[in-house]
Amino acid sequence: MAGSITVVVGTQWGDEGKGKLVDLLSTDAELCIRFQGGGNAGHTVVNKFGTFKLHLVPCGIFNPDCQCIMGTGTVIDPQDLIDEMQTFVEQNVSVENLFISDRAHVVMPYHKLFDRLEDEARGAYRVGTTGRGIGPAYTDKYARIGIRFHDLLHEESLRQKLSVILPRHNALLTHVYNQQALDLEQLVAQCIAWGRQLKPRIVDTVPMIRTALQSNRKIILEGQLSAMKDIDWGSYPYVTSSSPTAAGAAAGSGIPPRYLTEVIGVAKAYSTQVGTGPMPTELSGDEADHLRQLGSEYGATTGRPRRVGWFDAVVTRYVAEINGCTAISVTKMDVLDTMAEIPVCVAYRYQGELIHDLPDPQIHELCEPVYEVLPGWLESTEQARALEDLPRNARLYLERLAELVQVPIHSVGVGPDRAQTLVL
Ligand code: GTP
Repeated sequence: MAGSITVVVGTQWGDEGKGKLVDLLSTDAELCIRFQGGGNAGHTVVNKFGTFKLHLVPCGIFNPDCQCIMGTGTVIDPQDLIDEMQTFVEQNVSVENLFISDRAHVVMPYHKLFDRLEDEARGAYRVGTTGRGIGPAYTDKYARIGIRFHDLLHEESLRQKLSVILPRHNALLTHVYNQQALDLEQLVAQCIAWGRQLKPRIVDTVPMIRTALQSNRKIILEGQLSAMKDIDWGSYPYVTSSSPTAAGAAAGSGIPPRYLTEVIGVAKAYSTQVGTGPMPTELSGDEADHLRQLGSEYGATTGRPRRVGWFDAVVTRYVAEINGCTAISVTKMDVLDTMAEIPVCVAYRYQGELIHDLPDPQIHELCEPVYEVLPGWLESTEQARALEDLPRNARLYLERLAELVQVPIHSVGVGPDRAQTLVL
């Protein structure tokens, strides 16, 4: 039972380049499942079809033989999905292979409103959300008042549910946030229109997954963000509302955990973070601007400049451990090509003591990085197509990262194109 089932997760704070790896791994996969999150993802994929920004659609979409599923653990704005599908059609990429779990939750218009209003109301505890309604959609899911894709196909029961849910949300909107109430019938009509458009794709994924498991097929489970933004294991409260871990992959896709064969953690050769939260290796001033420009570190969804810093082995080792990573994929090595020296954080110092394990976020915030400075390679790596093509110091850098993280290297990224990934 079950062929190779690979989970791809982030090992920093997101934006590590998971999309590019999932695109590559899906070229011979039968199934690619997004297992958590929603339109707050911002995967960028560059391949022979062009350059694509994927927010919802799984990165396996470019292989027409790979069935792509928005898994049960995801939350989806139907209009955003319809619009994103259209961008693929316009670029001659078929989306016939895209399916949505009937159990996935709908990001409703009120979720988007609440996302912005609630984050503003958090004051100093602002998460810096993307405003896509993800947090409020998960809040409703766990409060058991969520609307699922199945509901979009059943008008009467949808109306009944919304007639209970909406007055509660409208009370908050009008009394707490001084906004206009939403109209029940307009909302029902909108939902039913979405349901009609998406009906052929809204499926029970259990039989699809059963078939794939029984026929020993290759399956890719695509994560978004990273365990540092995990609701349980991340820098709480500066986290997302789902589980971007291998455990979350099993729950959110419906693949039994014992069938997972590989967990690849993606790590940039340096660090970036969007939003608030501890980041001991963060750079500031000219140094930060320089690295940000070299790496084009601006959010795919929001365009916000990302916070940048050196590679933090404490963070990536912790995330690799939480996920049980079998390997790591190091991306954006080419961004460091012009650096004469590259600091790597090997531990933290807190109140005079050395720390090797990730502490509570309140302490993490106050930790100072302990750096080991590695020599750069001062040569372009962009044309490398095999490990042996890399300069010696680049290979030593990778070896040191693998040693610090205690996980072998699966692949190395030397540019944004699908072809610029060296699989070891
Ligand atoms: P989230 O799910 O939102 O966390 O995104 P992600 O992990 O898929 O990463 P994202 O695509 O947002 O960011 C990675 C960026 O780096 C994209 O613009 C990629 O095209 C680019 N990229 C990926 N790998 C490499 C690489 O090895 N070198 C360079 N120069 N760019 C890369």
